[in-house]
Amino acid sequence: MAGHLYHVLDTRGFDRPLLDELCELTTRLRGIAKSPEGARELQNLLPQARAMLYFPQPSTRTFLSFNNACHVLGIRTSEIRDPATSSEVKGESFDDSIRTFSSYVDVIVMRTPEAGFAARAAALMDRIARPVPIINAGSGKDQHPTQALLDIYTLARSFALRGGIDGKVIGMMGDLKRGRTVRSLCGLIKNYRDVELVFIAPKQFAMEGDIKLQLDAQGIRYRETSRLADALPGLDALYVTRMQTEWDTAGESRAMDYGQFSLNSATMKRLKPDAIVMHPLPRGPEIDTAVDEDPRAMYWRQERNGMWMRAAILLKIFRLEDRIFSLAAEGLPEGPDPP
Ligand code: NCD
Repeated sequence: MAGHLYHVLDTRGFDRPLLDELCELTTRLRGIAKSPEGARELQNLLPQARAMLYFPQPSTRTFLSFNNACHVLGIRTSEIRDPATSSEVKGESFDDSIRTFSSYVDVIVMRTPEAGFAARAAALMDRIARPVPIINAGSGKDQHPTQALLDIYTLARSFALRGGIDGKVIGMMGDLKRGRTVRSLCGLIKNYRDVELVFIAPKQFAMEGDIKLQLDAQGIRYRETSRLADALPGLDALYVTRMQTEWDTAGESRAMDYGQFSLNSATMKRLKPDAIVMHPLPRGPEIDTAVDEDPRAMYWRQERNGMWMRAAILLKIFRLEDRIFSLAAEGLPEGPDPP
């Protein structure tokens, strides 16, 4: 068994055995859930557990996938999505709010517009009598570790018959400066051998220096370009991101030239026949909907992977991974392996 998980705040601390185990758990879980007997077994795993989904920052996929991942495992959920409905409007501090949630639940999943708030909540937990694990579901422009984990699962599965993620060339395109998904994904690349990253963005939205320094320190090769057409033929995967317009202070996003930084049926012709296209979603004009029909478009599958990876993360936090491996070993019908 790989190491334990408690707080999930950023991508530090995820080593290869842990990533491999989470990916394996994810696949087993979704297989078991396919049969009614299996789904019932999963529902009985954590009937005593309660989760708080605290999402004052907008979310569709991450919220729904965590909510449903909890339900798959029998965990009951409470939620606050609009801070106007919580005592924050009466002036209750962030720390007191988090401490209050922890009085009622066994895990807190949170997304905030501020960077560092999940870490702050975790530090608070580490000081109180009844701490609960904190899962960062997106913190400002900085981190989105569970997205990076489901991205790794999607990459590993897509390349399962081609030696896995090792040795692949992964492009990241779009608003790399303000996109927390690509920042978090970069943090996991050190766990794979000989991966090369290609950052494709206009200068104004280039990857931030802190991530580049981190990659340098880890000996990971990366290059930067503003020419998508030139980069496309060399890629095994292209991770596309949208403009993070919510961070604009003076309409900066208008500087994005989608003529140069977007995918459509014509640009897809330059991508290798076995390459994959990913996107954390929601999408803007950077991927034409016509690309959805292309078998290399992996983003809807990536989205589906999210719920199962988040269920695997919860299982690992509650230390029930062995139950899944033994359930699978007992020969519960696992159902067909999904694509
Ligand atoms: C991402 C996010 O919230 O950072 N969405 C998601 O969780 N799938 C990406 C984005 O909003 O661009």
